[in-house]
Amino acid sequence: MAILPIVKVPEPVLRQKTKKIKKIDASIQKLIDDMIETMYDAPGVGLAATQVGVALRICVIHANDPDMRSAQDSSPGLIVLINPEIVKRSGTRLCTEGCLSLPNYRSDEVPRSEKVVVKGQNRDGRPVRYTAGGLFAEAIEHEVDHLNGILYFDYLDSIDKLTVYGPAEDGEAGEEEEVTAGH
Ligand code: NI
Repeated sequence: MAILPIVKVPEPVLRQKTKKIKKIDASIQKLIDDMIETMYDAPGVGLAATQVGVALRICVIHANDPDMRSAQDSSPGLIVLINPEIVKRSGTRLCTEGCLSLPNYRSDEVPRSEKVVVKGQNRDGRPVRYTAGGLFAEAIEHEVDHLNGILYFDYLDSIDKLTVYGPAEDGEAGEEEEVTAGH
Protein backbone atom coordinates (compact mmCIF):
# COMPACT_ATOMS: atom_id res chain seq x y z
CA MET A 1 0.00 0.00 0.00
CA ALA A 2 1.12 3.53 -0.60
CA ILE A 3 0.05 7.00 0.39
CA LEU A 4 -0.73 8.86 -2.83
CA PRO A 5 -0.40 12.62 -3.35
CA ILE A 6 -3.80 14.32 -3.09
CA VAL A 7 -4.64 16.40 -6.15
CA LYS A 8 -5.51 20.01 -5.31
CA VAL A 9 -7.80 22.62 -6.90
CA PRO A 10 -7.53 23.69 -9.76
CA GLU A 11 -6.12 20.44 -11.25
CA PRO A 12 -8.36 19.58 -14.26
CA VAL A 13 -8.85 15.93 -13.20
CA LEU A 14 -11.06 17.20 -10.36
CA ARG A 15 -13.51 18.44 -12.99
CA GLN A 16 -13.38 15.34 -15.15
CA LYS A 17 -16.34 13.04 -15.59
CA THR A 18 -15.22 9.63 -14.37
CA LYS A 19 -15.46 6.30 -16.18
CA LYS A 20 -17.53 3.40 -14.98
CA ILE A 21 -15.50 0.39 -13.86
CA LYS A 22 -16.27 -2.77 -15.80
CA LYS A 23 -13.64 -5.14 -14.44
CA ILE A 24 -12.34 -5.05 -10.87
CA ASP A 25 -8.84 -6.35 -11.52
CA ALA A 26 -5.61 -6.32 -9.49
CA SER A 27 -4.78 -2.74 -10.49
CA ILE A 28 -8.18 -1.58 -9.18
CA GLN A 29 -7.64 -3.50 -5.92
CA LYS A 30 -4.27 -1.78 -5.50
CA LEU A 31 -5.83 1.61 -6.20
CA ILE A 32 -8.50 0.92 -3.55
CA ASP A 33 -5.85 -0.08 -0.96
CA ASP A 34 -3.83 3.04 -1.72
CA MET A 35 -6.93 5.26 -1.54
CA ILE A 36 -7.85 3.82 1.88
CA GLU A 37 -4.33 4.43 3.19
CA THR A 38 -4.30 7.95 1.73
CA MET A 39 -7.72 8.75 3.29
CA TYR A 40 -6.59 7.61 6.76
CA ASP A 41 -3.29 9.46 6.45
CA ALA A 42 -4.95 12.78 5.48
CA PRO A 43 -7.10 12.18 7.60
CA GLY A 44 -10.42 12.39 5.82
CA VAL A 45 -13.89 10.86 6.06
CA GLY A 46 -13.89 10.05 2.36
CA LEU A 47 -11.79 10.12 -0.77
CA ALA A 48 -12.69 9.91 -4.45
CA ALA A 49 -10.40 8.50 -7.15
CA THR A 50 -10.18 11.87 -8.93
CA GLN A 51 -8.47 13.21 -5.81
CA VAL A 52 -5.54 10.87 -6.49
CA GLY A 53 -5.61 11.75 -10.17
CA VAL A 54 -7.62 8.78 -11.45
CA ALA A 55 -10.83 9.44 -13.40
CA LEU A 56 -12.62 6.22 -12.43
CA ARG A 57 -15.84 5.78 -10.46
CA ILE A 58 -14.47 4.66 -7.09
CA CYS A 59 -14.65 6.23 -3.67
CA VAL A 60 -13.83 5.15 -0.14
CA ILE A 61 -15.66 6.41 2.94
CA HIS A 62 -15.09 6.04 6.66
CA ALA A 63 -17.59 8.23 8.45
CA ASN A 64 -17.82 7.64 12.18
CA ASP A 65 -21.49 8.15 12.68
CA PRO A 66 -24.30 6.17 14.32
CA ASP A 67 -26.02 6.04 10.94
CA MET A 68 -23.22 3.79 9.77
CA ARG A 69 -24.97 1.03 11.69
CA SER A 70 -27.42 0.71 8.83
CA ALA A 71 -24.58 -0.25 6.52
CA GLN A 72 -24.81 -3.77 5.19
CA ASP A 73 -21.09 -4.35 5.11
CA SER A 74 -18.72 -6.75 6.86
CA SER A 75 -16.57 -3.84 8.07
CA PRO A 76 -19.20 -1.20 8.84
CA GLY A 77 -16.78 1.67 9.49
CA LEU A 78 -15.09 1.57 6.12
CA ILE A 79 -16.84 1.19 2.81
CA VAL A 80 -15.62 1.02 -0.75
CA LEU A 81 -18.09 2.11 -3.42
CA ILE A 82 -17.54 1.23 -7.04
CA ASN A 83 -19.83 2.82 -9.64
CA PRO A 84 -21.91 4.51 -6.93
CA GLU A 85 -25.25 6.00 -7.83
CA ILE A 86 -27.51 7.96 -5.51
CA VAL A 87 -30.97 6.57 -6.15
CA LYS A 88 -32.94 8.52 -3.55
CA ARG A 89 -32.52 11.81 -1.68
CA SER A 90 -34.83 13.22 0.98
CA GLY A 91 -34.90 16.33 3.15
CA THR A 92 -32.54 19.29 3.01
CA ARG A 93 -30.03 20.72 5.48
CA LEU A 94 -26.87 22.83 5.55
CA CYS A 95 -23.60 21.03 6.30
CA THR A 96 -20.18 22.24 7.43
CA GLU A 97 -17.79 20.81 4.89
CA GLY A 98 -14.22 20.90 3.77
CA CYS A 99 -12.36 19.11 1.01
CA LEU A 100 -8.88 17.54 1.04
CA SER A 101 -8.38 19.03 -2.43
CA LEU A 102 -8.85 22.56 -1.04
CA PRO A 103 -7.04 22.53 2.31
CA ASN A 104 -7.72 25.11 5.05
CA TYR A 105 -11.09 26.18 3.74
CA ARG A 106 -14.58 25.18 4.71
CA SER A 107 -18.14 26.29 4.41
CA ASP A 108 -20.96 26.09 6.95
CA GLU A 109 -23.55 26.45 4.23
CA VAL A 110 -23.28 23.47 1.93
CA PRO A 111 -26.79 22.34 0.98
CA ARG A 112 -27.17 18.58 1.35
CA SER A 113 -29.88 15.99 1.74
CA GLU A 114 -30.97 14.67 5.15
CA LYS A 115 -30.94 11.15 3.83
CA VAL A 116 -29.70 9.38 0.77
CA VAL A 117 -29.86 5.89 -0.64
CA VAL A 118 -26.82 4.89 -2.66
CA LYS A 119 -26.21 1.75 -4.61
CA GLY A 120 -23.09 0.43 -6.23
CA GLN A 121 -20.64 -2.44 -5.88
CA ASN A 122 -18.18 -3.31 -3.15
CA ARG A 123 -14.57 -4.25 -3.94
CA ASP A 124 -15.60 -7.85 -4.57
CA GLY A 125 -18.00 -6.68 -7.24
CA ARG A 126 -21.06 -7.53 -5.17
CA PRO A 127 -24.02 -5.16 -5.32
CA VAL A 128 -24.38 -2.99 -2.20
CA ARG A 129 -27.02 -0.50 -1.15
CA TYR A 130 -26.80 1.88 1.83
CA THR A 131 -29.42 4.06 3.42
CA ALA A 132 -27.51 6.88 5.04
CA GLY A 133 -28.07 9.95 7.20
CA GLY A 134 -25.79 12.30 9.12
CA LEU A 135 -22.12 12.45 8.23
CA PHE A 136 -22.39 9.23 6.21
CA ALA A 137 -24.97 10.82 3.90
CA GLU A 138 -22.88 14.00 3.60
CA ALA A 139 -19.81 11.94 2.69
CA ILE A 140 -21.72 9.96 0.05
CA GLU A 141 -23.02 13.14 -1.61
CA HIS A 142 -19.57 14.77 -1.43
CA GLU A 143 -17.75 11.76 -2.95
CA VAL A 144 -20.33 11.06 -5.66
CA ASP A 145 -20.13 14.77 -6.56
CA HIS A 146 -16.35 14.38 -6.91
CA LEU A 147 -16.94 11.52 -9.36
CA ASN A 148 -19.14 13.89 -11.39
CA GLY A 149 -16.56 16.70 -11.34
CA ILE A 150 -18.50 18.75 -8.77
CA LEU A 151 -16.81 20.41 -5.78
CA TYR A 152 -18.68 21.49 -2.64
CA PHE A 153 -18.08 25.21 -3.15
CA ASP A 154 -19.93 25.01 -6.49
CA TYR A 155 -23.10 25.17 -4.35
CA LEU A 156 -22.17 28.54 -2.82
CA ASP A 157 -23.31 31.86 -4.33
CA SER A 158 -19.74 33.11 -4.12
CA ILE A 159 -16.32 31.66 -3.37
CA ASP A 160 -16.00 34.53 -0.86
CA LYS A 161 -18.37 32.57 1.37
CA LEU A 162 -15.59 30.11 2.15
CA THR A 163 -14.10 30.35 5.62
CA VAL A 164 -10.35 30.07 6.17
CA TYR A 165 -9.70 27.90 9.21
CA GLY A 166 -6.02 27.05 8.93
CA PRO A 167 -2.95 29.07 8.12
CA ALA A 168 -3.76 31.34 5.18
CA GLU A 169 -1.38 31.62 2.25
CA ASP A 170 -0.13 35.03 3.39
CA GLY A 171 1.03 33.47 6.63
CA GLU A 172 -1.69 35.15 8.68
CA ALA A 173 -3.50 32.81 11.00
CA GLY A 174 -7.05 32.07 10.01
CA GLU A 175 -9.79 31.72 12.55
CA GLU A 176 -9.35 29.16 15.28
CA GLU A 177 -9.23 25.64 14.01
CA GLU A 178 -12.39 23.64 14.37
CA VAL A 179 -13.10 20.07 13.54
CA THR A 180 -14.47 19.96 10.02
CA ALA A 181 -15.03 16.82 8.05
CA GLY A 182 -12.63 16.76 5.11
CA HIS A 183 -13.31 14.58 2.13
NI1 NI B 1 -13.54 16.53 -1.38
